[in-house]
Amino acid sequence: MRARKPDFDFSNTPAIWAQNPEFALFWNAASTPFPYLERFLNKAMAKAATKLSGEDEASRKLRGDIRTFIRQESNHYTTHERFNAIMKRDGFDIAPLEVEIEQEYERLWQTKSFAFCLAYCEGFETLGPPSAHSMLDNMEQHFDRADPEAVAMWKWHLMEEFEHRTVCYDVYHHFHGGYFLRVYGFFYQAWHLGGMIKKVRNFLLAQYRQNMSGEELAESERRLKLATGAMGKGMLGKLIKVLSPRYSPHGYEEPRNYRAFMDKIEQRVI
Ligand SMILES: [Fe+2]
Ligand SMILES: [Fe+2]
Repeated sequence: MRARKPDFDFSNTPAIWAQNPEFALFWNAASTPFPYLERFLNKAMAKAATKLSGEDEASRKLRGDIRTFIRQESNHYTTHERFNAIMKRDGFDIAPLEVEIEQEYERLWQTKSFAFCLAYCEGFETLGPPSAHSMLDNMEQHFDRADPEAVAMWKWHLMEEFEHRTVCYDVYHHFHGGYFLRVYGFFYQAWHLGGMIKKVRNFLLAQYRQNMSGEELAESERRLKLATGAMGKGMLGKLIKVLSPRYSPHGYEEPRNYRAFMDKIEQRVI
């Protein structure tokens, strides 16, 4: 596991970076909370590291994993900040929504217990492996003639999400490990983060669609269904397993294109 910062250049990337505009907007909405969400993950993991003071092998390994996790997530959120700026450059004023999201994560950090924060982190990280499978193996038709920098950025992010999939799980199990809190954390983040992403998506779509005729709107809805379907395909079956008391991201099957993409992106690391 290592942190990689590729030389992504978004200077020519438009906000609508895919042939299916609704597909691009769907992912732009997902990207909007990352700078705040991933800082929250890092805060929780950094706090965990300070509490993991043992010199035994397991504690040392977990501290090392947390260090790499934090470096990866830091690269993710700084890159997503640059990526999110594209929306503003192209006239989508997401700044008020960003303020709301930032406040929301501050509220969680200030008002929720450490164990809950870890369960939230693990709940979010649970989405990494199935999302990596979708992104690396099942989306090529949506990436056809899309902006290559945007595509590479998303694949890199999900590749590293897959790579560090066990860190929050192991940390959660070290400090708490309870089944019900883990499942509660999973559903809470799905509702909490999902709600914020939906709000951004509705904002982006409303602006994009403002001058559309009824016919164009129906066509836009159809394209949006294709975009959401691309992500949802296969997700549900994989996520059901999360509800099992025996769920573990260790030993998760690698996406087919995982290693090949890793070799490719490592040539772009600065
Ligand atoms: Fe990330
Ligand atoms: Fe992550």
